[in-house]
Amino acid sequence: MNKILFTVTILLALVSPALAGDQCAECHEERIGEIRAKKVIHSAIEDDACEDCHESHGDDERLVLVEEGSALCLQCHDDPAEGKVVHEAVTDGDCIDCHDPHSSDKASLLVDAVPELCLQCHDDPTEGKVVHEAVSDGSCTDCHNPHSSDQGALLTEGMPDLCSQCHDVPDEMNSLTHTALSDGECTDCHDPHSTEFSKLLIDKYETTRFPGGFSEEMYPLCFQCHESSLVTGGPEDTNFRNGSKNLHNVHVMGALKPNRYGIAKRGKARSCSICHSPHGTTQPFSLISKYVHKGIIFLTMTYTPSEDGGNCTVGCHKPQDYNRTAPDPRQGG
Ligand code: HEC
Ligand code: HEC
Ligand code: HEC
Ligand code: HEC
Ligand code: HEC
Ligand code: HEC
Ligand code: HEC
Ligand code: HEC
Ligand code: HEC
Ligand code: HEC
Repeated sequence: MNKILFTVTILLALVSPALAGDQCAECHEERIGEIRAKKVIHSAIEDDACEDCHESHGDDERLVLVEEGSALCLQCHDDPAEGKVVHEAVTDGDCIDCHDPHSSDKASLLVDAVPELCLQCHDDPTEGKVVHEAVSDGSCTDCHNPHSSDQGALLTEGMPDLCSQCHDVPDEMNSLTHTALSDGECTDCHDPHSTEFSKLLIDKYETTRFPGGFSEEMYPLCFQCHESSLVTGGPEDTNFRNGSKNLHNVHVMGALKPNRYGIAKRGKARSCSICHSPHGTTQPFSLISKYVHKGIIFLTMTYTPSEDGGNCTVGCHKPQDYNRTAPDPRQGG
């Protein structure tokens, strides 16, 4: 401790009994000394006004408070439970579950620092394999108001504003946004605390360029809201088709080609992320990414929708058209 601060503390401890709520200090000198030795001292104590909260106990030497529960604190403080959603720990009425009425070594007179305080009553939300850095650094209160809020889950801001405090959120003005995002609910796909999947996703989403095959278990995140038949089904199951050929099937499962014995074999399978960006894009349609990465190189990908299909000009192959009614012969549809 800083020497001057130390001296001041000692002095305070020595003079405090004389100043403290007269009659209390007479017999509770030791306890008052302890209270004053902490870093953060409640202002009512600072003023030695024990009687703001205590009545004298007379001969029956026990705790007597002038008010019970939060009413004691609300004599001087605004009710922190004014939001639409009130923390049940606050509804219970005991501010002192979290605050020490006299003094504390923790900021805001807390009985324990955040997040340990929260973990006294809640399961540790950082037990997943992938932990949000905003949570692992322990600041639950960056996102949650400990008392009450107008947002669900006591959030300090609604979504996506909460997330955009620290992240670039796809801007609907500048890009086409995934409809999944139109309600701003990032938590449709991400867990705010921790998960088993990379990028805090709530379910698996394979992003390896060439994942070596296809199964529905590779993209359950997308198949929560989209039919997997867009890949596994026939041409009627997707708009990404050339005549009767399902081009999702061709790209995601791999093109079906006969080998030299005439047996049909699948070619390279590709992941959704090779073409789609999950949040939004400046391409005119269908969440097609602007770039496709090849190792560390980024190739531009230009997608142009047409009335009945589209054109893709990309580094991986010659410009390709697809047309649902007048199939491009090169695609063999
Ligand atoms: C004549 C001495 C005396 C005075 C004056 C006195 N107390 Fe006490 N008080 C005691 C004793 C003795 C006890 C029981 C032992 C203990 O818990 O410290 C006690 C107990 C208490 C307790 C309960 C402690 C517990 O652990 O539950 C509180 C609270 C308390 N006093 C507050 C006060 C306050 C506030 C004042 C001033 C308004 C005050 N006392 C004045 C002697 C006194
Ligand atoms: C802001 C309100 C408030 C003020 C001011 C206050 N107390 Fe308390 N005090 C409480 C509450 C609430 C409890 C009960 C804590 C609990 O139940 O854990 C308490 C408990 C106590 C206890 C028994 C438990 C303990 O912490 O030792 C003592 C002794 C005590 N107070 C002494 C004092 C003295 C002496 C003063 C003046 C220097 C004082 N208090 C000022 C609210 C206050
Ligand atoms: C007699 C008036 C009074 C009572 C009763 C009172 N407080 Fe305070 N409290 C104050 C004042 C004055 C301050 C300092 C100004 C401020 O931060 O509002 C303060 C500050 C605080 C702080 C902020 C401390 C900091 O360093 O950030 C907390 C937390 C707090 N009080 C909690 C409580 C709780 C919990 C109770 C009930 C056990 C309570 N207060 C009862 C007057 C009171
Ligand atoms: C679940 C734990 C919890 C409960 C219960 C609780 N608080 Fe708090 N309170 C906190 C935390 C955590 C902070 C610090 C907030 C921060 O640092 O952003 C705080 C801060 C405060 C502050 C100082 C900063 C501010 O928001 O003005 C006051 C005053 C306060 N609380 C009063 C109360 C009162 C009065 C009650 C009871 C009605 C209460 N608290 C109940 C956890 C709690
Ligand atoms: C004294 C116990 C206690 C402490 C300490 C506590 N909580 Fe709670 N909290 C509860 C209870 C009880 C509920 C309601 C039941 C539930 O959802 O688990 C709750 C609910 C919540 C909710 C859900 C609210 C909703 O309406 O969906 C959030 C978020 C929350 N607490 C965050 C926190 C944070 C952050 C902290 C630390 C600053 C904290 N809690 C400290 C007891 C506590
Ligand atoms: C990056 C912001 C953020 C941080 C930091 C954060 N949370 Fe949350 N928390 C959320 C969001 C968003 C929800 C609502 C989830 C939903 O609606 O599906 C939530 C929900 C909760 C709930 C309600 C029950 C549940 O799990 O859905 C509790 C309890 C909770 N958080 C506790 C904590 C605790 C304890 C900490 C600190 C260890 C913490 N949170 C840190 C954003 C955060
Ligand atoms: C207080 C700041 C803060 C807030 C608020 C916040 N984050 Fe984060 N988030 C971070 C930091 C720091 C990282 C780690 C560095 C990075 O990847 O940018 C991170 C990383 C992430 C990651 C990447 C994780 C990985 O494994 O690569 C995702 C996804 C994420 N946050 C989503 C969200 C969502 C959704 C919300 C709103 C519920 C949110 N964040 C709110 C600070 C924040
Ligand atoms: C439809 C599902 C979905 C929704 C809704 C969603 N995300 Fe994502 N997000 C993803 C996927 C999938 C990835 C991983 C992309 C990858 O690794 O190629 C991701 C990655 C991220 C990352 C990591 C950085 C990066 O670009 O790789 C951040 C940060 C992030 N999202 C924030 C948000 C925020 C903030 C929101 C709400 C505005 C949100 N997400 C809504 C699916 C979604
Ligand atoms: C929470 C639900 C939800 C999730 C999860 C989801 N989507 Fe969507 N997505 C939608 C909705 C709603 C639409 C609007 C069209 C519709 O109803 O099919 C849409 C549309 C699309 C479109 C067409 C965009 C356009 O402009 O027409 C693509 C491409 C797409 N999603 C890809 C994905 C991918 C890839 C994933 C997995 C990373 C995914 N979606 C996960 C709800 C979701
Ligand atoms: C080779 C690039 C490519 C890959 C890989 C790809 N898509 Fe698409 N996807 C497209 C194109 C192009 C469209 C636009 C079709 C149209 O409307 O003309 C589309 C459209 C969609 C749509 C809108 C409905 C539909 O079927 O027309 C959804 C949803 C979708 N894709 C999801 C996915 C999912 C999920 C994956 C991975 C399992 C995936 N896509 C893989 C290029 C691709």
